[in-house]
Amino acid sequence: MIILSVETSCDETAVALVRDGREVLTDQIFSQADLHAVYGGVVPEIASRSHAEVISYLAQRALDTTGVSRRDIGAVAVTYAPGLIGALLVGVNFAKAAALALNVPLVPVHHIRGHIAANYLAFPELEPPFLCLAISGGNTMLVDVRGYTDMRVLGATRDDAAGECFDKTARVLGLPYPGGPNVEKLAREGANAVKLPKMLKGAGGYDFSYSGLKTAVVNYVHAAEQSKKPWSKADVAHSFQCAALDVLAEKLFAAAEERKIGVVAAGGGVSANGYLRERLAKEAAGRKMKLVLPEKRYCTDNACMIAAEGYIRYAQGEFASLDLNAEAYIPLKNASEPL
Ligand code: KG4
Repeated sequence: MIILSVETSCDETAVALVRDGREVLTDQIFSQADLHAVYGGVVPEIASRSHAEVISYLAQRALDTTGVSRRDIGAVAVTYAPGLIGALLVGVNFAKAAALALNVPLVPVHHIRGHIAANYLAFPELEPPFLCLAISGGNTMLVDVRGYTDMRVLGATRDDAAGECFDKTARVLGLPYPGGPNVEKLAREGANAVKLPKMLKGAGGYDFSYSGLKTAVVNYVHAAEQSKKPWSKADVAHSFQCAALDVLAEKLFAAAEERKIGVVAAGGGVSANGYLRERLAKEAAGRKMKLVLPEKRYCTDNACMIAAEGYIRYAQGEFASLDLNAEAYIPLKNASEPL
């Protein structure tokens, strides 16, 4: 069964065609990064307008490049929450129109569940249970994936998200938007030489915290600039990366050991980070655990992951009617109830 999937929750317009929730037929993405770079971050109004301009074109290109006919499409899946409300509305309305025109079910998908489901694309044989870090620009949580739809949030950030902290650090270091990949690149030239706090390390259960780290980086950079002494941006980037990511790895493995779960995973933009991926791989190997990670291009926002989660929802018969609305925030539910 082929799903046409749509993702417009932030600054990527994405449309995909995916067979049986696992086999990507095409992955169409238009990144708005250049449009927002001049402002140093995402401007919601610009995001919504850009989604509206390109979404129909991407859908048509998805059909043209694969030769898939409209009649072959069995369902339309769409991110309806959480995200920028105007941006989500463009995708939701496009998906509603497509489902109506094609006379197929409309499947609503929670964006964070999509990030977790990206792991099924990389490892088609993957089955729950596993533990997953869901780490993106707006979310940082450790999720116990007990079944395809049954998830428990073991811990989450108490303030800022890890990705947001990367973006802020990039900005104070004078690096362009989007911050995460640029901080990672600069960090490769530096050392772990600046003392920064590892927030909630060994405390707070499986919760995380990033606001103190963000403030520590800002204060360090301001003090360094005023001191007129030489200082290394690359060292700040490297030290920040260690402080931000080590805690994620430590809590993921602590939870896996405590719960005797042998498979660990990650998803969301921050899981594209090479330092984190290497650290997770090393630690998983040392503990004889299986590590599952999406391909880097499926860590950041994309529509393939929405089809992967949409397929699970489709199999449960969880369809939306044409009054589906977009929601800026819906928590990841703690039980198997439908979203
Ligand atoms: O998943 P995503 O594309 O969008 C959301 O759902 O939020 O994540 C975007 C976030 C941004 O904060 C970006 O800076 C961060 O993921 N990110 C990274 C890397 N690539 C993207 N953070 C650290 N290292 C990276 N390589």
